[in-house]
Amino acid sequence: MVYISCFSAARIRNMRLGDLILALGVFGLVEGAARKCRNPPQRKEWRELHLAERKEYIDAVHCLANLDSISGFDGAVNRFDDFQATHSDQTPNIHWVGHFVLWHRYYIATYEKALREECGYKGAQPYWNWSLDASSDNSSTAIYETEVFDAEVGFGGNGDYMSATPEQNPLNLTGHTGGGCVKDGPFSSKYFQVNYPEPDCLRRDFIPWIMNTFAQQSIVDHVQSQPDYTTFARALENVPVFSQPNIHGSGHFGVGGVLGQLGNQAQSPADPLFYLHHGNVDRVFWEWQQKDLWTRLHQVGGPVAPMDYSGTNVTLDFTVNIGKLAPDATLEQLLNTRGDVLCYTY
Ligand SMILES: *[C@@H]1O[C@H](CO)[C@@H](O)[C@H](O)[C@H]1NC(C)=O
Ligand SMILES: *[C@@H]1O[C@H](CO)[C@@H](O)[C@H](O)[C@H]1NC(C)=O
Ligand SMILES: *[C@@H]1O[C@H](CO)[C@@H](O)[C@H](O)[C@H]1NC(C)=O
Ligand SMILES: *[C@@H]1O[C@H](CO)[C@@H](O)[C@H](O)[C@H]1NC(C)=O
Repeated sequence: MVYISCFSAARIRNMRLGDLILALGVFGLVEGAARKCRNPPQRKEWRELHLAERKEYIDAVHCLANLDSISGFDGAVNRFDDFQATHSDQTPNIHWVGHFVLWHRYYIATYEKALREECGYKGAQPYWNWSLDASSDNSSTAIYETEVFDAEVGFGGNGDYMSATPEQNPLNLTGHTGGGCVKDGPFSSKYFQVNYPEPDCLRRDFIPWIMNTFAQQSIVDHVQSQPDYTTFARALENVPVFSQPNIHGSGHFGVGGVLGQLGNQAQSPADPLFYLHHGNVDRVFWEWQQKDLWTRLHQVGGPVAPMDYSGTNVTLDFTVNIGKLAPDATLEQLLNTRGDVLCYTY
């Protein structure tokens, strides 16, 4: 080793300046190529995973929940909590803004990276295509009877019914069916605990009519038919009233309802299903980008401040910050799932 490096140093000393620059240039190119995204993990629908792959994913989530927190948030005990606390901290700045979908893209990809790099998970972040299961019958519960909610091969089901006070239900949601602790599966109290902002069990509170109405493929089609990023982003989030469906609200309120964490804007990542729900939101975005990739790798818009639709808009060099989870990234970097910051595909 010593001999070789001395030899190389001597060689470099004897090179003419032009050769040296050429050599460094080639080295730089090779370095650049090595850093590129060569074998992107391919994200799949939960039910496309083999049972062994599903188990590996669930095990990795449990692993993350057993690693010590590094975020410094009061109440965050483990690495899983770090993600939830970061989302909670930034909640006022990341919804109904132009960077909503890209902030969440970065956040999910960073979670995927933590599962892979810190917990040895070999696969990609799965998603839940709720449109597969949405029924045209408003009151159908079929969407909850799939393998996504299965205790053995999924994320477990609903909590017991609990009534909610008006203070607990400021959005006046109707039709909730649960609210108690998740009773079965890998995230029931026996195997999983919520720590942030205070210790609790994971709660779910299914609302069938929201799930069935908001998760319809026809609404996904409407969102994906938008001509540019600004209109796409606005159609995706729509307005925060329940008389107007929005696909982003489907998983949140259809599963979290009134009393479950997934229905709480700040605390929603307490439910591991958050990452499959938002994985699907990201897939909807990714598919929309593929329809005109040339343009849609370089286009953003929408307000910097929530719902400020006539105010300042985000630009490609707008910076997204996810706290201690990962370094800052620009929106332009995050538009590309196979670039220098992100590396995955669908
Ligand atoms: C999701 O499900 C809907 C409804 O079946 C289907 O139209 C759509 O193609 C699915 N998307 C993916 C990526 O599987
Ligand atoms: C579904 O149920 C909700 C709540 O009962 C109701 O407000 C809504 O109008 C229903 N939608 C359809 C399409 O029937
Ligand atoms: C919920 O209902 C209360 C009481 O009727 C009302 O004051 C409040 O504005 C409603 N909230 C929403 C978001 O509709
Ligand atoms: C931001 O974008 C919206 C939608 O395209 C536009 O109406 C608005 O004028 C823009 N804001 C500014 C300050 O240019």
